[in-house]
Amino acid sequence: MNDRTSLCRIDDIPDGGAISAEIESSTGGFSLIVLRQGERVFAYHNECPHAGRRLDWSPGKFLVKDGVLVCAAHGASFDVASGACIGGPCRSGLAPVQLRVTDGDVGVGGALE
Ligand code: FES
Repeated sequence: MNDRTSLCRIDDIPDGGAISAEIESSTGGFSLIVLRQGERVFAYHNECPHAGRRLDWSPGKFLVKDGVLVCAAHGASFDVASGACIGGPCRSGLAPVQLRVTDGDVGVGGALE
């Protein structure tokens, strides 16, 4: 794997919203949630700490409003900027993934093998 995996352009992410990104790996890959607040972007594993379900209600469609991401399965709420659980049935936060933004290109580092 390269030391950097390109996910998307920052303009591909709606400001105040989120998209999903699928990461391929030798073990079958996984899904990320990529969120944007202005020029800031955040990524988390698309796996809810409540019951392990994906957080989107339809592939790539997330419930995000006013800086809060809500899991579509049972309503756990997470702070977009930190991934912290702020309401609902979750007991811990989302698992973060470090991003880099270079000339508008959003990528992850080499730790995701
Ligand atoms: S799996 Fe997300 S709230 Fe239950």
